[in-house]
This record gives sequence, C-alpha cells and structure tokens, in this order.
Amino acid sequence: MKITIFGSGYVGLVTGACFAEVGNEVLCVDIDQNKINRLKEGDIPIYEPGLEDIVVENSREGRLRFTSDIEEGVQFGLYQFIAVGTPPDEDGSADLRHVLAVAESIGEHMQEYRIVINKSTVPVGTADLVRDKISSVLCARAAAIDFDVVSNPEFLKEGDAVDDFMKPERIVVGVDNPRTKELLRFLYSPFNRSHERFLAMDIRSAELTKYAANSMLATKISFMNEIANISERVGADVEAVRRGIGSDSRIGFSFIYPGVGYGGSCFPKDVQALERTARKYGYDARILQAVEAVNHDQKNSIVAKISDHFGGSLKGRTFAIWGLAFKPNTDDMREAPSRVVIEALWKAGASVRVYDPVAMEEAERIYGKREDLYYAANPEDAVMGSDALVVLTEWMVFRSPDFEMVKRDLKSPVIFDGRNIYSPEFMEQSGFTYYSIGRLPRGV
Ligand code: UDX
Repeated sequence: MKITIFGSGYVGLVTGACFAEVGNEVLCVDIDQNKINRLKEGDIPIYEPGLEDIVVENSREGRLRFTSDIEEGVQFGLYQFIAVGTPPDEDGSADLRHVLAVAESIGEHMQEYRIVINKSTVPVGTADLVRDKISSVLCARAAAIDFDVVSNPEFLKEGDAVDDFMKPERIVVGVDNPRTKELLRFLYSPFNRSHERFLAMDIRSAELTKYAANSMLATKISFMNEIANISERVGADVEAVRRGIGSDSRIGFSFIYPGVGYGGSCFPKDVQALERTARKYGYDARILQAVEAVNHDQKNSIVAKISDHFGGSLKGRTFAIWGLAFKPNTDDMREAPSRVVIEALWKAGASVRVYDPVAMEEAERIYGKREDLYYAANPEDAVMGSDALVVLTEWMVFRSPDFEMVKRDLKSPVIFDGRNIYSPEFMEQSGFTYYSIGRLPRGV
C-alpha cells in the first residue's frame, strides 16, 4: 500500500517507519527542511529505542522516503495520515492550526480518492473540521473528488513506541462508512495478530477514546499521589497501600506508582484539553480539574520537603539532580517534574548539578549556560560537593549507585527520592537521612 504521513515528529516517524517495516511504501512529509535533510541521512531527531534501525533499514530498502514537498505527499498515498503537532494554546485547548493546514493542502492537491486519517491527538469534532476544510477547498477548485476522513488515535508510549506500534493492544479506528472501515482493517492487518485488536467505532467515540485513556491513566497517578500525601500525614506507608489495592484485579498494579507527578507530551496536555472540551460543551469536569491540580502540587511537594529539611532557606545551597527526562528511556523534558523542581530551587536561591543518561543535550537546549546550573559528566560528578541528592527520574543507573561514594561526596548524607526507588531500611542502615514519597521512614 502507498502511505503518506504528514508530520515527521514522534508519532509520524514511528508510524511511517513501522508501516514501512511491514512492507508498505511510505512517504514522510515535513515542512521542516532541516529535519527532512537529517532524516534522509539517517539522523533521527528523537531518542527512541529501535527507531533508528528500522528507519535506516527501510530507507535503504527504498520503502521509506522523506520529502518537504507537500504536493508530492498528497499525490503519493491512498492513505494520508495527519500526524502533526497539536500544542496547547493559551487556554489549554489543542491548537489545530497545523492539522487544518495539512487538510487544506490535501484539498488543494488531491486528484483522486484519498483516505485522510487523523493520527494526531485531536479534540472531539476535529474530523468534522478536517472534512469541512477539504470540502471547502475542493469546492473552490470546483473539483468533485471523493474522500473519507478517519480518526485513528495513537497509544504509543515514549521509550516503547516501536513495540507499542508493532504489537498494539488495540487499534482504534473511528469511521463513518463500511468501505473505510475495511480499508483501515486491511492496512492494519499485519498488526492485528493472534486475536481481534481492531476496534471500529464512530468517529467522535474514537476521538474521545484517546483523551479518556490518557485522562484515566493520569487520574490513577494523581489519585495515588493523593493517597501518598494522605499516607504521610496519617503515618501510613503508601507502598503497603499500593500492594494492598493493586492486588485487587479490578484495580491492578499499573499506573499506581506515586512519585513527583506525571509529565510528558501527552498526559498534562490531554487532561487539560479534555477539561476545556467538556467546558466548551457546558460540562464542568471536576475530576479532570482535580487530577491536574494534584499533579501540579505534586511536582512542587518535593521542593517543600527539601526546604523544610534545610530550615526554610535554600539560599546558597547546591543540589545534585539525578534525572531530567519526564521518565526513563527518553530525552523528553516536556512538562518534566525536573523542570518545576529545578526552577523552584533556583527561585529559592539554590544551584543545581544535573545529570541524566540521555537528556543532557535537551537540558542545554532549554536552559543554556547559567551560573546556577552545572551539567555533570556522570552521576558521581553531580553529587560532588552538593548539599543533598534529589532523584527525579527512575533510570536504571540510579537504582543501585555506590552509596559509599554518594555519602562521601555529599556535604551531608541526605537523599530526596521522588520516585521511591530506594529502600528506606537500607537508606537508614547506610546512614542517610532519606525522604521519599508517602512512605514510612523505615518502610514496612
Ligand atoms: C502516555 C500513554 O501511556 C500513551 O498510551 C499515550 O499514547 C501517550 O501518553 P508517555 O507520555 O510516553 O505515554 O508516558 P507514560 O509511560 O505513560 O508515563 C507518563 C507519566 O506518568 C510519566 O511522567 C511517569 O513518570 C508517570 N507515571 C506513570 C507515574 O508517576 N506513576 C505511574 O504509576 C506511571
């Protein structure tokens, strides 16, 4: 099959590479010429395990190509995926400018039947806007060309994106006629193995499914962070509570790890956007508002613990920060708790020595050079001479460090663990003052 993907960002690139991997001819289009040039050279602008291999391999085989020529993209594929960004605008709603610009281009250049597939996370009703846009452009051209619009949300996780695409738990497709449903089923048949994963539904339900999934997961996290905060106050241990509730199969163990709050490009944006959509339709989405508020406070709560420990003043202090990415296996720092913590520490007059296994370049891009910021060469270098260690991302390399070294190189043996990766008993035996999230000082 011939497939065009508009937008060579995270979702577009993974989608394009994975469709090529199963034998399709894929043309990825992006208006950023620099990005396209890099991709043609096999230089992948994002960190995603396994992605580079399949991009390079499929480019070599000629199944995956890149261009900035929009017209060529519209002529190429029967399937036209829209996978461009939908950043939040000032009020938190998704900004559809890029999505509608692609729709306009499709309307301008299409010469025969096309299936236009929304892969970007877009608010309910966007498929109608895309359809209207294409229709109005065709009308202005006086061209009577048939087309369909489909909603096909993506559920991939950063760090596991290739695997999530190749072995999806479900393939959600919103369609409004049987022909498109069958064309989509055919396109996805290589990924629809062992049991039926293809879920066809009406377009609005498909659009809402994406927001509902991410908001439900974000809700689980904020709920658990709230239980952690209650645990701290009543003298309970959230780890015990987590095991106690997770073993109820109706609740389950996933996404109930308390921490410094969720970040990334999806949860914060999607919870906000769904709340705004609800409001637009006259509904006050109180759970979503609370999920967001708890998450905001959670990112700041570790700063309050640090401040309390140091008697309320952090002026002139230095903190080692282990972990900048919003989660392990990515260099993504969008909405990362690290940013809130670091910026709060700066505001309080402290300096930071930061280390992350892959997000150092990203941090430099965001913060550049500053007197109160030192980019450490390794975890040990970050700790050197710091007043305390603050762990913000649960990278493997941070899980079993040389604690003797940490103790020797810190000014005082204090660790603030925002991801609960160390055992409170072990920390006590090793002579550290240890703060974590919602746990009893000595564990259970
Ligand atoms: C998420 C969804 O999982 C994915 O299906 C969707 O398509 C995009 O958004 P992603 O943002 O890559 O994926 O990250 P994910 O692994 O889901 O983690 C999100 C955030 O939640 C991270 O900051 C993580 O640290 C946090 N988290 C996750 C917790 O704090 N506790 C948990 O128990 C789980």
